[in-house]
Amino acid sequence: MRRQGLLLAMVALVVLALAAPVQAAPTHPSPIPPRTTVPLGAAVYLRCADAGAPASAPACPIQPFNPAYLSAWQQHFDQLTPENELKMLFTQPARGRFDFTAADRAVRLAASRGRKVRGHALIYPAANPNWVNKPFLLPWSRSSLLSTMGTHISTVMKRYRSSFPGTIEQWDVVNEPFLGNGGRDPNVYQRVIGNDWIEQAFRAANAADPSALLFLNEFDADEHGSPRQMAVAALARDFVARGVPIDGIGLEMHVGADGRYPTRASILATMKEYADLGLRVEVTELDALPPATDDGGLAQRRVYQSVTGACRRSPNCTGVTVWGVADPYSWRSAAKRATLLDASFTAKPAYADVRCRLANPWPTTEAPATDPCATDPTVIPGAPQPVGPVDGPSTGSQP
Ligand code: XIL
Repeated sequence: MRRQGLLLAMVALVVLALAAPVQAAPTHPSPIPPRTTVPLGAAVYLRCADAGAPASAPACPIQPFNPAYLSAWQQHFDQLTPENELKMLFTQPARGRFDFTAADRAVRLAASRGRKVRGHALIYPAANPNWVNKPFLLPWSRSSLLSTMGTHISTVMKRYRSSFPGTIEQWDVVNEPFLGNGGRDPNVYQRVIGNDWIEQAFRAANAADPSALLFLNEFDADEHGSPRQMAVAALARDFVARGVPIDGIGLEMHVGADGRYPTRASILATMKEYADLGLRVEVTELDALPPATDDGGLAQRRVYQSVTGACRRSPNCTGVTVWGVADPYSWRSAAKRATLLDASFTAKPAYADVRCRLANPWPTTEAPATDPCATDPTVIPGAPQPVGPVDGPSTGSQP
């Protein structure tokens, strides 16, 4: 009798287990949901108000801190990237000593308003604290640096997953690992761990938070066919083919430094290359230097139009972030006026263009005959008229 009961219980357990919904393990690349609009984010740096930041932290571009800065972010942007506070320089200033004071302020600012945060950046060799670049006493071995890198990634990701659930859905796991010639940047991870350091960082990130979206972020990697773009694409292709967890590529897009802007066709081609791999793409750090001769902001406005138009037309482009809330806070200096808001936090004409482009459900393959974002986006008082449609196919060096 007792044995029969036991048997029945076991059968019931097996039936229950089979009937329970199977929790599918998150896959990478994670499927890209269809978008209705694309969010517009901005980089925010609270150091200006934060006496507790380490002395080695990058300086605030403007003093004293202006509270209008935060309201401007809240009014004009949908999401936030902490400009520096999540970098290792802040989060692990001394070996084994984690400090989330500054990062928490930035993440809380967004979370308390129901906004998302881009987690930037877990491993960014250019923002290494000194103790990583010049270890005290013993030099790094492959295994000691691998374990330090892994612990850093997992401590930071797990902390934000548990303290601010749902706020940081995506992370720049590795930032700027390539050189302009397509080679690897010879940073400490590359030298000590070797070529697989990027893969190891992504595997550690996936182990720490399997549901997070994992990005590799790179600058000057938007021009299709350029050595650095090809290097990023080759790595992405290899990761996807071998099942190394990756979900997206971040295109920084600090544009205009060499007097040139990327063409729309080139950005579209780059975005498509990642779409074909099932990867997302985000414009993560957009800002545009004006040309040498003052054109009343026209070229800058056109490049903002062109980048956001390309994103809107690429089904895998899931976000655009401007690197700085307003000109005086831009890392490219106030004088360059590289962002979307001016010194008094007033939105420039480019801002309305960008908003319209990111919200407009345009066809993804064809340029519309007429620009649905135009009140007349080509007219800026006092500026020369641009040639050709603002969101038509790009030509030559026109943005
Ligand atoms: C910059 C910040 O804007 C500055 O405040 C800081 O002094 C240096 O770093 N690529 C990146 C960003 O991924 O983290 C950099 O941010 C700009 C270039």
